[in-house]
Amino acid sequence: MTKPYVFITRKLSDDVIVALQDVAEVKMWPKEEIAVPREVLLEEAKKAAAIITMLSDKIDAELIDAAPNLKVIANLAVGFDNIDVSYANSKGIIVCNTPEVLTDTTADLTFALLMATSRRVVEAAQFVKDGKWKSWSPLLLAGHDIHHKTIGIVGMGKIGEAVAKRATGFDMDILYHNRSRNLAAEKSLGAKYVSFDELIETADFIVCLTPLTNETRNLFNENSFKKMKKSAIFINVSRGPVADEDALYQALVSGEIAAAGLDVFDKEPIDATHPLLTLTNVIALPHIGSSSTETREIMMALCCDNVIAVLQNGKPKTPVRI
Ligand code: DGY
Repeated sequence: MTKPYVFITRKLSDDVIVALQDVAEVKMWPKEEIAVPREVLLEEAKKAAAIITMLSDKIDAELIDAAPNLKVIANLAVGFDNIDVSYANSKGIIVCNTPEVLTDTTADLTFALLMATSRRVVEAAQFVKDGKWKSWSPLLLAGHDIHHKTIGIVGMGKIGEAVAKRATGFDMDILYHNRSRNLAAEKSLGAKYVSFDELIETADFIVCLTPLTNETRNLFNENSFKKMKKSAIFINVSRGPVADEDALYQALVSGEIAAAGLDVFDKEPIDATHPLLTLTNVIALPHIGSSSTETREIMMALCCDNVIAVLQNGKPKTPVRI
């Protein structure tokens, strides 16, 4: 019997796919840092029973229609806004993601970005390397305190909770806004549920962790940045389109807010000439929220497990339910 065909849209570690190779014929796009071209993906989809996708791959109706044998799409991310899940499900295709396994790693990065932005760590390190450090001085590269400040978390899922847990170590007051109350976080972390407006008006750090949906697209816009404190620091580790980048740029340039730490952008990779990248009060990272070697290996293995489970008619560990 011929094995089902599985296409992986980016080069993954060879060790991780061994188990998958036992049950399937596996082909990987051979490049680690270059995305598979759309026409190649469309061609591969024609014969694939499963595809392991990256968050940068657009899995829309055109692609799904091109894939008559497709049973499962396993996305190497917790977010799945790159996939038309309802259309896939309507064709009987299961979509899987990688929740839970990246929670702490992404929370670590979120907090690292918050701290780096607030204490101007990147700017200060560059200052030393550029030979600009002439003497110690009282307000040299003075940033903003983190401890005893108010953090406002928009999107209090697992990653939000893990960020809140880290904030307790800094004696921060924790506000959150979410579609529904997170009573566990309120009880165990002392997080306080507030309206979106109260959060953005009162928090010192506004941390965006909400998934990208029709409701959250452009949630952070001209109006919301205007409502923030002038000393507010905006951190986005969810998806770029949740914030209007032009409005963010204006808010940063006009001093409506103090700084921004961004791991995600409207268009990724962001163009190196993008106005946001010209600002010293912006720290920009290349979407590395879950990128520790340990966690990425676990995410890859989970994708393979999900594919194997579906191909063997078992139940995948982490199907997306919408
Ligand atoms: C995800 O997995 O969706 C995150 O963006 C990780 O960085």
